[in-house]
Amino acid sequence: MKRLFLALVGVAVMMACSTASQLSDEEQKAYDFADELIKKMTLREKIGQLQQFTTRTAAITGPDGVKRDTEECIRNGEVGSFLSIRKTEEMLRLQKIAVEESRLGIPLIFGYDIIHGCRITFPENLAMSCSWDIDAIEHSARVAAIETAATGIHWTFSPMCDISADPRWGRVSEGAGEDPYLGAAISAATVRGYQGNDLAADNTIAACVKHFAAYGAGQAGRDYHTVDMSELMFRDRFLPPYRSAVEAGAVTAMSSFNDFMGVPASGNKWLLHTLLREELGFTGFVVSDYNAVHEMVKHGTAADGKEAACQAMNAHLNMDMVYGDYIKYGEELVKEGKVSEKSINQLCREVLAVKYRLGLFEDPFKYGRQNQEEVMYRAENLQFAREVAAKSMVLLSNNGVLPLKEGVKIALVGPLADAPRDQLGAWIGWGEAGRSVTIRKGLEERFGAKNIIYAKGSDFRAPIKGGIEEALRAARKADVVLLAIGLSYKESGEATSLTEITVPEAQQALLDALKKMGKRVVVLLGTGRAMDLRNEIEKADAVLLTWHGGTMEGAAVADLVSGDKNPSGHLTMSFPYCVGQVPVHYNNKITGRPRKGPEHDKKYLSRYMYTPNEPLFAFGYGLSYTEFDYSDLQVLTPEVALDGVVKVSVKVKNVGKRDGEDVAQLYVRDLVAETTRPMRELKGFERIALKAGEERVLEFEIPTSELAYCHQDLSFHTDKGEFLVGVGADSNVELTGKFTIK
Ligand code: GLC
Repeated sequence: MKRLFLALVGVAVMMACSTASQLSDEEQKAYDFADELIKKMTLREKIGQLQQFTTRTAAITGPDGVKRDTEECIRNGEVGSFLSIRKTEEMLRLQKIAVEESRLGIPLIFGYDIIHGCRITFPENLAMSCSWDIDAIEHSARVAAIETAATGIHWTFSPMCDISADPRWGRVSEGAGEDPYLGAAISAATVRGYQGNDLAADNTIAACVKHFAAYGAGQAGRDYHTVDMSELMFRDRFLPPYRSAVEAGAVTAMSSFNDFMGVPASGNKWLLHTLLREELGFTGFVVSDYNAVHEMVKHGTAADGKEAACQAMNAHLNMDMVYGDYIKYGEELVKEGKVSEKSINQLCREVLAVKYRLGLFEDPFKYGRQNQEEVMYRAENLQFAREVAAKSMVLLSNNGVLPLKEGVKIALVGPLADAPRDQLGAWIGWGEAGRSVTIRKGLEERFGAKNIIYAKGSDFRAPIKGGIEEALRAARKADVVLLAIGLSYKESGEATSLTEITVPEAQQALLDALKKMGKRVVVLLGTGRAMDLRNEIEKADAVLLTWHGGTMEGAAVADLVSGDKNPSGHLTMSFPYCVGQVPVHYNNKITGRPRKGPEHDKKYLSRYMYTPNEPLFAFGYGLSYTEFDYSDLQVLTPEVALDGVVKVSVKVKNVGKRDGEDVAQLYVRDLVAETTRPMRELKGFERIALKAGEERVLEFEIPTSELAYCHQDLSFHTDKGEFLVGVGADSNVELTGKFTIK
């Protein structure tokens, strides 16, 4: 009886949600269509819409899925979606079976991980976030959507909205770094880029808010590991990017692998229903991560797949990715009264409504029809990818060796110097290494092949016999060495957690040998995560963080090292002094015994005995070939009403000899609050371009609602009180301004 009661409660709550959140006319129309269709469907067909499978030839993005007869499942209405199919004709073939050979002809929805580009691969997302160029990030998603729709894919499993300050976790490469304010802006922009203004257009695709939730806070940076934090911390630091993606209209979401406050996300009703739908107003559908429903058995919160399916369905998880517990046990669960048919109807209508909004019922073959020759690799999009790659790269150090002079002879060394696949990073969608402009190619085109002497020098984690000698021979013939080192694409993305975040020994040996020669060395650092770069910074004459810069990486590197373009990237993730500091992030709480700096190194302070508290490079940091001077901070509203707008201005001057771009960042500190607050929080930023000598006054407006925080009773609002404020080029800026909310 108890279970039946719970099921009925589940239904009542589920039915309430899609009416609670104000549905748009478009959403209402889609739901009305779905409700009519559901009346004709059998229970098995409704559950079929809640099942997603992969196929024998699809890309594998998880543990092997159960092998099934794909076509039979489609004809029987036992599957509603497929993921990771890499052939247009295969998707069209399966869609034809669904539309023509299943009883009701309900179209399939095809999903894929288009994370940072489809054919054209943009820099990995963490890299792109370092451009702080929201319009460019939105445009990269727009380009990705246009290319994706031409492949026949309807739906991307992106944006990844997981905040993380732990570079041991390889998936930081897929996110937007450690800050919730910037992360929220980027998540929303990415959703806008994918979904555009018309989801039914034939060049827009469904976005997916993932991984819900807090997947980036796994213990010890180990993938899939436990996430346990206060709801207060979650709401302050981790929730904003998910919320902004929902508010931007994302029509799908994905439950994460991790448990959250003791309950696996895929069976976590508070997460998937109460928070996501009732509080955030999400009205689309939620797909589990790969096998994550069945993995609740591994988590130990479900005795078997049937119980896992029951918990997930009642938690309001719409779609089971791959494993198959939904289609296997769904009817039994309804017959046993453990899941009501009304719940199944609600889960199904939300899936059907998204298919309807994509236009798939009207024209199931609208995607994949475009002429791929015309759509893919368009020149203007490749040029854009080159520009956004250059904007994403971060100049970490430079003793004047950069930019290089014309006619210079360059020894190009290292495993990332001519690495067309590695430069694309993880999750490359339909990307093709054969289209990569490698660093070698970019430099040869810019400086002339005769001026580039190439030597691989070493592999990523193993020396090459004679590699160092070859590198030294190349260096002897050159004026300067460009050393392209770092991590391979296999060390970025899912299931790539590391306990060491230094450049591998074999590559550091190259740097040491070249340094001993006394040659000027520029390190081009390729990576998908923050790293401990103390050795590189100590030994190199310059370090340029090139990330995994995508298809056009090499051209972007050439643009920067030649001085044709001026570096302008700023870090969105702190680079630790060492892995022992991790997780280290700029928006730490102050503690009751703050250590203010080396001069305060007394015993009873919050510090390490032999290591600084500060990271090697702070959030927001990035150099240029010119210099920007911030001065004359003015708090134009020293007193603000509780519902007012704080106004701050600052002067920025390009005091160098070259034109350049910088990212002005505004930070605040709430001096006294009901709960402990971060020592500073990003609350505004602006990319600015200034000619040499040019000065500009920037004005920032911060609605006081942006200063809201989670209180002890979990209410989220702004208090009256005093705040410090500062504007500068990184998170170490002095907060010299003050305002009071009255
Ligand atoms: C993977 C990833 C997820 C991806 C999904 C489908 O395991 O965790 O980010 O979207 O499976 O490939």
